[in-house]
Amino acid sequence: MFLSEQWYLLKQYRGTQKVNEIKRLLQLPAKMSVNYYNPMDITAVAAFANYANKYEKGTGGATRYIAQRLMSMSPAFTNDSTVLDNACGTGIVTEEIHKRISFTSSPANTKITVVAADAAAPMIDNLNSKIKHVEGTAAWLNIGSISTHVVPAESLDSTIVPSDSITHSYMNFGLFFCSDAIKAAEHIYRSLAPGGTAFVTTWKDLGYLNAVRKTEKACNPGGENFNMPFSAQWEDGEYVKDLLVRSGFAKENVKVVQEESFMRFEAVQEMARTLTESFTMLIRGQKGWQSDEVKNEWESKLSENLVEDEHFIQDGENGVAIRMMANIAVCTK
Ligand SMILES: C[S@@+](CC[C@H](N)C(=O)[O-])C[C@H]1O[C@@H](n2cnc3c(N)ncnc32)[C@H](O)[C@@H]1O
Repeated sequence: MFLSEQWYLLKQYRGTQKVNEIKRLLQLPAKMSVNYYNPMDITAVAAFANYANKYEKGTGGATRYIAQRLMSMSPAFTNDSTVLDNACGTGIVTEEIHKRISFTSSPANTKITVVAADAAAPMIDNLNSKIKHVEGTAAWLNIGSISTHVVPAESLDSTIVPSDSITHSYMNFGLFFCSDAIKAAEHIYRSLAPGGTAFVTTWKDLGYLNAVRKTEKACNPGGENFNMPFSAQWEDGEYVKDLLVRSGFAKENVKVVQEESFMRFEAVQEMARTLTESFTMLIRGQKGWQSDEVKNEWESKLSENLVEDEHFIQDGENGVAIRMMANIAVCTK
């Protein structure tokens, strides 16, 4: 069954007992992240599932940039390191850990254990393909073992991540998609080993949001305001800290810092095309654009609005970028 049909069924029976039965039959996680800030009623997990193979291009490197920053903030990796890559998507954090170990002064034979989990099966399929690709080569020599799991972070129980077992825990831009963020964060706390460090990131400023909103207002004046599929409260570092404290971390053991990130493309046209594609489902739902003409008009209006926006950077030979800002929560136990 196609995802669009799954959506239709779930939407039709929303709020009834039948929803759980449908999820069971379709083998969808019972705790699938349903987003009520989304006017089109699209679940975040389903949207990511549909987008998995375009995900890395679509982000323009913005989440990887922060993953690289996390590496420079992480305690050293040793043979005893057990890593959780939570809401791992296509495994960007795991890749950056591998690079970190390979290109720094860690002993060459360091081999870590990684547990990677995501609620969207196509994301895990994508990561499994990468693992298959590097198997038998020296490419991921420092990843001693990696297990992958299709599971929502809210259900990441002790059968997958035993309590007090994780030395390095990462949830890079995943927590705010969870339908029950406290429950997801409780599993981060429970599974972290005493002395371990957990990193949780959210967006403080997405950079492109004003340009997207302006475009939608101009092209669809009577429509609803454009909103991301998560609440704006996640922009506030204090809110992130408070949630982690409510999930078990001691107040003095959670620090939130801000770091810049960049979404980079070769040219503004490519940036606008990619963002238009990324947001089609959020703003137009399953039906998509009425016509190519309507889509092209939206895309070129977005190009204009991006260039005019204060976040836009014309970066010479490096192409163009949008300046973004992340909250990074660093938690110890
Ligand atoms: C913005 S992506 C981040 C991916 C990756 N961590 C990175 O650094 O690029 C968000 C990821 O969260 C996943 N996700 C959404 N809701 C989830 C949930 N409740 N539990 C686990 N993963 C979830 C999505 O499938 C998607 O892969």
